[in-house]
Amino acid sequence: MPVFPDGFLWGAATSSYQVEGAVSADGRGPSIWDTFCKLPGKIAGGDTGDAACDHYNRCHADVDIMAGLGLQAYRFSIAWPRVLPEGVGAVNEAGLDFYDRLVDALLAKGITPYPTLYHWDLPQALEDAFGGWPSREIVPAFVHYADVVSRRLGDRVHNWMTLNEPWVSAFLGYSTGFHAPGANDPALGVQASHHLLLAHGQAAPALRANGGAQTRVGIALDLHWVDAATDSEADRAAAYRQDGIQNRWFLDPVFKGAYPEDIVEMYRREIGTEPDIHDGDMAAIAAPIDFLGINYYFRNVVKADESVPVVKMRAVKPEGEYTEMGWEVHPESLYKLLVHLKEAYNPPALYITENGAAFTDRASPEGQVSDPRRAAYLRAHFAASHRAIAAGAPLRGYFVWSLMDNFEWSFGYSKRFGIVYVDFETQQRIVKQSGAWYAEVIKQNGFDHE
Ligand code: FCB
Repeated sequence: MPVFPDGFLWGAATSSYQVEGAVSADGRGPSIWDTFCKLPGKIAGGDTGDAACDHYNRCHADVDIMAGLGLQAYRFSIAWPRVLPEGVGAVNEAGLDFYDRLVDALLAKGITPYPTLYHWDLPQALEDAFGGWPSREIVPAFVHYADVVSRRLGDRVHNWMTLNEPWVSAFLGYSTGFHAPGANDPALGVQASHHLLLAHGQAAPALRANGGAQTRVGIALDLHWVDAATDSEADRAAAYRQDGIQNRWFLDPVFKGAYPEDIVEMYRREIGTEPDIHDGDMAAIAAPIDFLGINYYFRNVVKADESVPVVKMRAVKPEGEYTEMGWEVHPESLYKLLVHLKEAYNPPALYITENGAAFTDRASPEGQVSDPRRAAYLRAHFAASHRAIAAGAPLRGYFVWSLMDNFEWSFGYSKRFGIVYVDFETQQRIVKQSGAWYAEVIKQNGFDHE
């Protein structure tokens, strides 16, 4: 039986807009996702996060479920528009009170809180005022928000993530229009990515200043191992480009203080833009972090294609097993990614901050949810991680995505990622078989091969 190192941290993750609901409760302001969900055709089924899992009102019962699973840590995110409804200015104490209650409830059950400050729900007021992340004005606003939150929680929260998946916020939000706020300009995505990284770098000192000596700061990146579709030179160059766009664009600034020159050159040539870097920006971004969070779901396999604007390549889908998202199940790529990160960047610590799978789950009339494919997915990825640890990757913990079925962004409620099933009509929760299996893994700090 693979057994994990002593102290390995087992958790589960969610994010504010995906689970909280209660979007107008207690003074919360609107976020860009509230607005985006109301645009026709943006979200499957016309779904919104208005109710989601009603976690805002049910957080104590949900913490009881976590305790029942034996979770040692919970990764959640804080909704900026709950804390600062206008994004800046007046603090909404009632919004902060919610996270205060949540943190206390977790600690009372021995579950370590791992909050993320920004998981995509930007206050709409900041989008309206200056266009959100593509504007440099966002940076002091984010630092102020980080300061407000950590002043309140920093006595009890010692592990912070600044951002979740800045690639998604920047490029899906501002370049492709697939996510809120739905802008469609490649240059905006590039500027947004720089301001996200700068906000991360400048917020970190505030988090440290407001917490004790044990405060640790990290960032959660969506990283993909990239393979070339064939061994041709063009496809291998495409794979390196994809690695640059997706991985190196964020890893290099954080760990090496510079954007990858090949990708800077590509953006300059193809879209006539490059990040607007001011003196001191790169040093702030590269200030040491305490851990790197990795959100890993699938690898990328790419093929050169001159007809595709800017990136000149496209994704291909090899034969294999796929989840409901159309994402390839490829645990070997997680192994390769972890070992590569150790070799290329030597991070002080790594956490899997998200990993999991969507499948079509149904509750039986007896109220059971059998999801063997999810348990198999997790088992295979745990095994890959275990091997990576043996190969020297400093992996310290694992957060399964997700604690419970929730609002899956543009897919609405049609994709279920939870190890806990949610009936969105009644808000009833049912621990799935994968959840019960995970509870055993946690108990044993390892798992059987079967
Ligand atoms: C990640 C997001 C998370 C969730 C999973 C499935 O990109 O961070 O909120 O939607 O994908």
